[in-house]
Amino acid sequence: MKVLGIETSCDETGLAVYDSARGLLAHTLHSQVAMHDAYGGVVPELASRDHIRRVVPLTERVLAEAGCTLADLDGIAFTQGPGLAGALLVGASIANALGFALGKPAIGVHHMEGHLLSPLLSDPRPAFPFVALLVSGGHSEFYGVRAVGDYTLLGQTLDDAAGEAFDKTAKLLGLPYPGGPALAKLAVHGHRAAAVLPRPMQDSGDLDLSFSGLKTAVSILARKEPLSQQRKADLARAFEEAIVDVLVAKSMAALDQVGLSRLVVAGGVGANTSLRERLHAAAAERGAKVFFPDLQFCTDNGAMIALVGALRLEQGTTTNYAFSVQPRWPLAAARSSADAVS
Ligand code: KG4
Ligand code: ZN
Repeated sequence: MKVLGIETSCDETGLAVYDSARGLLAHTLHSQVAMHDAYGGVVPELASRDHIRRVVPLTERVLAEAGCTLADLDGIAFTQGPGLAGALLVGASIANALGFALGKPAIGVHHMEGHLLSPLLSDPRPAFPFVALLVSGGHSEFYGVRAVGDYTLLGQTLDDAAGEAFDKTAKLLGLPYPGGPALAKLAVHGHRAAAVLPRPMQDSGDLDLSFSGLKTAVSILARKEPLSQQRKADLARAFEEAIVDVLVAKSMAALDQVGLSRLVVAGGVGANTSLRERLHAAAAERGAKVFFPDLQFCTDNGAMIALVGALRLEQGTTTNYAFSVQPRWPLAAARSSADAVS
């Protein structure tokens, strides 16, 4: 099965070709980060327009790099949701138009299912079943994953997502968008224990999370004094340590709860070096194993959409090209392949 994947849910136009037999053949990405930088966050209308400009040339490029033509494809996968409605519509309309013209299925993919299964693009691939920690700009959730399409929500954030907390705290510290990587870079220069922050819900006894209080705690500390560069780094480090402590503790609790020893971490915050190191160490201590996607597939990309498209196509899908997008879409509702098809 050869599938073209199109990701346009937010501020990255991602294209890829995945082959069930040979793996990822090619992928390419255009990031809109520089364009949105002036506004301190993603401007939805600008995002949609830029996707329109990029998607066709990037499709041509990725097909050329994969050494195939449209006629070689078995299906076209696109991110159907969740995400920005206008941005999603760009990928959905291109995928369905191509599918209709070629007489091939257009496969609507859940963006978070893409993140969740993105470690399958790496070597070694995690075997099912596993626990998945999804930590992105809009999501912080634990899932029990038994098979493709079999996802049980184990716990989730009650307020801000981990990436959102990184981004908002970075903004407080005067760092550029997107804040997560900038804050992590600054945290390297912070002194240990120079600021004390809470570990929200670490001992709550469930797998839910809460991060908005952490951001508020940093804002209170930041307000008290004029911030030197060193103090900013100290606060960045304290924030990162608090969030990583909670995520590590809850991840180990999630493994205990379902009695598994494989943890998959996906989503943009999975690119955080401190989180990766601490999770590896904590898992190794108990004989468990952590799987991360390659760094380039932690944040949004077309490869994860092409991968899920191929997996869903193997399960069998039908399509009528009457496409829609789902800006809000709980992952558990993407359970059967039929639900994910437009
Ligand atoms: O998965 P993603 O690309 O987009 C969503 O689907 O939300 O995740 C983006 C999020 C942003 O909040 C960004 O600040 C965060 O992931 N992020 C990081 C790092 N790299 C990206 N957060 C902490 N440390 C990083 N190194
Ligand atoms: Zn994402």
